[in-house]
Amino acid sequence: MQNTMTSRSTTEDDITAEVLRRFDATPDPRLREIMRSLVRHLHEFVNDVQLTEAEWFAAIEFLTETGHRCNDRRQEFILLSDTLGVSMVVDLINHRKPAGATESTVFGPFHRDGAPEMAAGGNIAPRDAGGTPMIVSGRVVDRDDRPIAGALLDVWQADSTGRYDSQYDESDELHLRGRFRTDAEGRYVLRTVRPVHYAIPDDGPVGRMLRAANRHPWRPAHIHFVISADGCEPVTTHIFDDSDPYLASDTVFAVKESLICRFIRHDTRDAAAARFGIEPPFDTVEFDFVLAPSRERVP
Ligand code: BEZ
Ligand code: FE
Repeated sequence: MQNTMTSRSTTEDDITAEVLRRFDATPDPRLREIMRSLVRHLHEFVNDVQLTEAEWFAAIEFLTETGHRCNDRRQEFILLSDTLGVSMVVDLINHRKPAGATESTVFGPFHRDGAPEMAAGGNIAPRDAGGTPMIVSGRVVDRDDRPIAGALLDVWQADSTGRYDSQYDESDELHLRGRFRTDAEGRYVLRTVRPVHYAIPDDGPVGRMLRAANRHPWRPAHIHFVISADGCEPVTTHIFDDSDPYLASDTVFAVKESLICRFIRHDTRDAAAARFGIEPPFDTVEFDFVLAPSRERVP
């Protein structure tokens, strides 16, 4: 068979050049760009750290185990991407928002389709008896502060023990999830329980990686939202509790200053308690989401 390599005594650089050459004829130009860049960076990385064969095999085993830990309730590859900061870099590249629009952050692995659409004031946490009741309210507006009526808020969060519904083996039922529409003034309001900080699933290879690096698995307390409305860019985001000790060290790097909110404790039977029929103590938080028009992107 004809040897197409430039020389018999190939160096690392020769191999890199030859692998790049073999992707030259990739018909899809974007795929060609991605594969060539990937090869360049992978080869550079292996050379940079002078990877041993044992380390190469450990990496293969790590990735194999990561695949084996994925199922319809768990996505270990997303966790790996999140904890390496890759998800946030992809988010930043793809969702640069014009000034004033609500910033996005990671989607995470715990969203589920099919959350029930609820009336204003609906309680997404009816079975979380141990949690502190909380009222979340605000508006959805455009960048000129004009209300957006009929905007859809898809909301999900972990319960007061820090677990999502899909982390309970015994039930498939949706809990701590709901979809809400804004009224004519762009207002939304919902009931839930105060979120707490929680550890991402760390009993798999990603957890081992965190421990090996002396990193913790904690995410600061937050509530997830996807907000969408006709004619607007949808935004995937969270709101964060400003008193949380993990704000500065979120294990998935997802905290943005503009998404940090004051959660207010109420210890007396005030007007909010009467309106929602709840006993103190309870918490409230207000947050206005600002949507940019569709297709308006920052280059
Ligand atoms: C979450 O907030 O649900 C999440 C995000 C990234 C990794 C794990 C969990
Ligand atoms: Fe979360």
